[in-house]
Amino acid sequence: MNKVTVRDIDLKGKKVLMRCDFNVPLDENLNITDKTRIIAALPTIQYVLDQGAKLILCSHLGRPKGEVKKEFSLAPVAKELSVQLGREVKLADDIIGDSAKALTADMNEGDVVLLENVRYDAREEANDEEFSRELASLAEVYVNDAFGTAHRAHASTEGVSKFLPSACGFLIEKELEQLGDSLNNPVRPFVAILGGKKVSDKIGVINSLLDKVDTLIIGGAMAYTFFRAQGYSTGKSLVEEDKIDLAKELLAKAEAKGVKLLLPVDTKCGKEFSEDTETLVVKSNEIPDDWEGFDIGPESIELYKSVLAEAKTVLWNGPVGVFELKPFAIGTNAIAEYLAELTDCKTIIGGGDSAAAVTKAGLADKMTHISTGGGASLEFIEGKVLPGIECIPNK
Ligand code: 3PG
Repeated sequence: MNKVTVRDIDLKGKKVLMRCDFNVPLDENLNITDKTRIIAALPTIQYVLDQGAKLILCSHLGRPKGEVKKEFSLAPVAKELSVQLGREVKLADDIIGDSAKALTADMNEGDVVLLENVRYDAREEANDEEFSRELASLAEVYVNDAFGTAHRAHASTEGVSKFLPSACGFLIEKELEQLGDSLNNPVRPFVAILGGKKVSDKIGVINSLLDKVDTLIIGGAMAYTFFRAQGYSTGKSLVEEDKIDLAKELLAKAEAKGVKLLLPVDTKCGKEFSEDTETLVVKSNEIPDDWEGFDIGPESIELYKSVLAEAKTVLWNGPVGVFELKPFAIGTNAIAEYLAELTDCKTIIGGGDSAAAVTKAGLADKMTHISTGGGASLEFIEGKVLPGIECIPNK
């Protein structure tokens, strides 16, 4: 990575505005249910504090769309950060208002202030210049470590960089190294597993991966559009009718490139989308009219495992079945468990639902890298420019 990092800037005694992605899931009592993104931000936070800086943290949480709503407050994050850092993290009541200004005016080295949800102000997502300037005026240095939000050109992820000396944090550095290395310099065989509902969400990713991988494994509801492209009937399964031709083109592209594109050979179906529905496993070209595919079947699991056994680099994005429903989580869990067993293979989990599945299975620490980005890692895999990283100067 060629971008300026926190290591390259003198931080002693300086006020540092650091953008993190503290967009963590909360339950109905506003308790954090997955702290991964907070934990992932700690190395840069700790480093900046160790340099004798005064730290002003900021983040979004959810999508409050420019309105102040209690359920989107960063209060639970401030509390958790105080515990993790073993020092008080003061939460401002606003972003660039009186409270933020008062709390950041007289800071001592080692003090930490967290601004309120930047998306409480509509000017954040609009990347408003005046808002960016005011945000920047709170500090002397800007650090972006919010990989999960790096695909957004917002005021706190991009705009502020125009007004302050700027650097990336260690999380962005690590994500770029891990994702970038596996994509551009993979030890082969390189296998990608792509799941999720819609082909349309992943067109760019599939196209980009077909230029890089040796084998592409497809799972999730997206597979049913590919089944139709092969002339199979798919019962009541989710199919994007207007993407069947595209699926045909992608199959042809894979063949032309010599990339093995594997679809599930069998499918686990249900009568309806529920935990206690009747289930049926059939060959993928024999899905009956009144059944709906929800997971890959046992033969597909074995087939996919046999391919993964040879792999030296695996990139996984998207569950291969409806993993939130127990009877249809078997395929996704089997893949997570098998990846956890591989010792001589780099396993990269591309964020979002596949990261949630691996974490839910208690296997997170068995993977080489789990990205903290959902949309951001998809866009990175597609080869798109991420504005939150692009705005940081090169070394
Ligand atoms: C995410 O959860 O993927 C990031 O925090 C970005 O959130 P957003 O999609 O609301 O911009």
